[in-house]
Amino acid sequence: MEPEMIHVVCKADNRQHAVVNIPSSPDHNLPPSSLRARPILLGLTSNNLSYARGGDLLHWWKTYPVPPTAPAPYNDQASWGIVPAWGYATVTESNVPGIIPDSLIWGYWPTSTSPALLRLERSEPEGHWVEVSSHRQQLMPIYNRYECVHSDEENEADERAWGTVFRGVWVAGYLLSEYVFSPDPRAREPVHPLGDASGLPWSADDADLSSAVVVVLGASTKVARSFSWCLFDRPRESGPLGLVQVTSSPGALQEVVDGKGWAGWSKTLAYTEIDRATEWIEGLQPSKVVIVDCGARDNVLSRICQNVQESALRSCKPVILQVGSQQKVYTADEVQAARAAMQSLGKIQYNTSGIQDTVITREGAARYFGEVSCRWKEWLAHRASAIPDMGLVYGQGIAGENGIYGGWEKLSTGAVRPEEGLVYAL
Ligand SMILES: NC(=O)c1ccc[n+]([C@@H]2O[C@H](COP(=O)([O-])OP(=O)(O)OC[C@H]3O[C@@H](n4cnc5c(N)ncnc54)[C@H](OP(=O)(O)O)[C@@H]3O)[C@@H](O)[C@H]2O)c1
Repeated sequence: MEPEMIHVVCKADNRQHAVVNIPSSPDHNLPPSSLRARPILLGLTSNNLSYARGGDLLHWWKTYPVPPTAPAPYNDQASWGIVPAWGYATVTESNVPGIIPDSLIWGYWPTSTSPALLRLERSEPEGHWVEVSSHRQQLMPIYNRYECVHSDEENEADERAWGTVFRGVWVAGYLLSEYVFSPDPRAREPVHPLGDASGLPWSADDADLSSAVVVVLGASTKVARSFSWCLFDRPRESGPLGLVQVTSSPGALQEVVDGKGWAGWSKTLAYTEIDRATEWIEGLQPSKVVIVDCGARDNVLSRICQNVQESALRSCKPVILQVGSQQKVYTADEVQAARAAMQSLGKIQYNTSGIQDTVITREGAARYFGEVSCRWKEWLAHRASAIPDMGLVYGQGIAGENGIYGGWEKLSTGAVRPEEGLVYAL
């Protein structure tokens, strides 16, 4: 039997990583309500760097511990971990009633060729399943949800590949526009960026963008592209009054703005042009400036905050949402500095799972997933105009420059270009 390959990352220094072989597991009985599924198509984005950086705090390392059969030193689970990725896997064995071998499942998988063992319980809506293994119970619920994909859905290979790259983060942008900044608070009660479980208040005023200018930093990130697209589709009267997108790739984003007829209400700036934002925002006379940080480079956030403070905008209500971080591996000191900046700038942390959990409780899973799946498919169908610059960059397998190993190398050095979507066939 061919050995299986897994990609492992050093927990203390995420730049260190390796590919290790493990023996193929011989057939043995499956535990009750369990299946094994082999990852076949996975995407990598900056989000995967976050799974490693926050792996201890938010329990992402617990999803798929390194098997004890891995060679030393990688079998030391305290020091090495597997970074999970969004994508598809094929069921190789199953005793879960309702899921047969060869079924295709969407979800959160190990970066490994080895079949993953899942213990599943049926959930809502039809076709959704929840992972209930004890070692995964501290994970946020979004990571324990799996969905069987029927052959008549998402059957186009290209759509599946885009799904691996976008779907896991696209929902973050959608929830931010539709629930945190709900366009119609009477129809959709606004949700705090951390969700109801935080116990923190978030009023209709907090959610109101009708007299606000939204500034998106790291506007080429996938999460930001999804957020901006949702903003473009809102009724104009629900706001925002104006949108500033700050990115290394302004040309491509401006094309989207023009295509959506938003040129009059939007400014797309390179990082080096950040000082031009304030005057343009002042001209719109907003009562609120909402800064959404999706992973801005270097000092851009502090620069714009300083500019706002030193301008006529200082009387506006500032709101800074922390969605993501730069595409790089942070040193311990940089993590510390980022935490300190959260405090000093009064940033509000954003959490997709917290919001999704809240909406499921309020509206029911069937209604929520029905709507989100509709909007996702609509976006996917319009991808040529939503992300005109982007293309898929296919890799193969785990090892080597063209495999997951090479993808991690590129991500951890900030070498993935804004127009590249990394997808791996395993
Ligand atoms: N809080 C949540 O619930 C939540 C949910 C989803 C994602 N996130 C986070 O949001 C962030 C973005 O995730 P994503 O998957 O959407 O990212 P992504 O598409 O992989 O991000 C790529 C973009 O990162 C930007 N970037 C910033 N610094 C860079 C650098 N040093 N080198 C190269 N590119 C750099 C570039 O955009 P510019 O040219 O515009 O700078 C680039 O286009 C991640 O930190 C992720 O974990 C958070």
